[in-house]
Amino acid sequence: ERITLSVIKADIGGYVGHSSVHPRLLETAERCLAASKLLIDYRVTHVGDDINLIMTHKYGVDCPEIHHLAWNVFLQCTEVARELKLYGAGQDLLSDAFSGNVKGMGPGVAEMEFEERKSEPVIVFAADKTEPGAWNFPLYKMFADPFNTIGLVIDPKMHQGFRFEVYDLIKNERVEFSLPEEMYDLLVFIGAPGRYCIKAVYSKSTGEIAAVSSTQRLNLMAGRYVGKDDPVCIVRCQSGLPAVGEALEPFANPHLVAGWMRGSHIGPLMPVGLNQATPTRFDGPPRVVAMGFQLSGGRLVGPQDLFADVAFDKARQTANEIANYLRSLGPFEPHRLPLEDMEYTTMPEVMTKLKGRFVKIDRTERKKIAAELGAK
Ligand code: F6R
Ligand code: MG
Ligand code: MG
Repeated sequence: ERITLSVIKADIGGYVGHSSVHPRLLETAERCLAASKLLIDYRVTHVGDDINLIMTHKYGVDCPEIHHLAWNVFLQCTEVARELKLYGAGQDLLSDAFSGNVKGMGPGVAEMEFEERKSEPVIVFAADKTEPGAWNFPLYKMFADPFNTIGLVIDPKMHQGFRFEVYDLIKNERVEFSLPEEMYDLLVFIGAPGRYCIKAVYSKSTGEIAAVSSTQRLNLMAGRYVGKDDPVCIVRCQSGLPAVGEALEPFANPHLVAGWMRGSHIGPLMPVGLNQATPTRFDGPPRVVAMGFQLSGGRLVGPQDLFADVAFDKARQTANEIANYLRSLGPFEPHRLPLEDMEYTTMPEVMTKLKGRFVKIDRTERKKIAAELGAK
């Protein structure tokens, strides 16, 4: 039985500021999805100020009706957000009219179609205050690092390795790597997560899709800052794919991601339970939640709130320590992102103000002065 799992997310307005989603928006989304005849099942959740629509159906990926449904949910939510004057109401809806696919219109999308296995455990990861490249490090660990995933060494169905599909978000190109043989080649690219993002991972032993992520970059689409592209990612687990625990393990060591305050900082990605997914310190630090489901004929049995486990307390503590240290650097790199990666800048205005005060450095003049000083 072929099932499609579609996760479509958008920030429709923050409550309060950019920290969370108002319950009335979640209720509105619930109501809209409940009224739809297209879905087998659905869940509405949030991470920070982003609403996640988790939907199962039989229409495949990029289905215009499903995308339209999500778009309409976000429009309805926008009305409520406007009424409550929530912060940045409708911020991720970049266009006024739906054109057949939400890609390129603001919302983030991760979807995959597959034959439901005898038992089908999946994890939906969702992050706030960061960007799509945030999945590069954990996806690499899950599917390519034997120090994370022992299955790569001792499970005969994993031992052949995985195929990685990578997007270049600047040039709009895609490329595939076969691992483990091309591990070093892959790392040249995905180590630069602001540009190269892992879009999907496939099992080499079955050819089956194992993971897919959202790779939208809103600022590139809109040509101006419109919020970070808080990403989602789906990972199928077990039986020749990473075990649930192997898929979660990379998050035990919080890696640094771009985003946080004003989309212009580096911070640790903190794994949290759903009720801790409300980034408030300096609008962060960036959060990730993991929602586990068993699929049954497309029905979503779950979620189990996987990072709510005490075993991730230490990761949260580490993330808080890293956050504390980075915060102490204030407006200095590497806490603050390099000029070209910041989502906000006052540089052009400051430059205009200082026009005429920048003068060429005259080396001969300086040498003369130094010589004179030296003679004294
Ligand atoms: C980060 C984010 C927030 C805002 C910040 C300032 O992705 O959304 O950190 O950038 O709260 O928001 P504005 O410019 O709307 O006052
Ligand atoms: Mg927001
Ligand atoms: Mg957000």
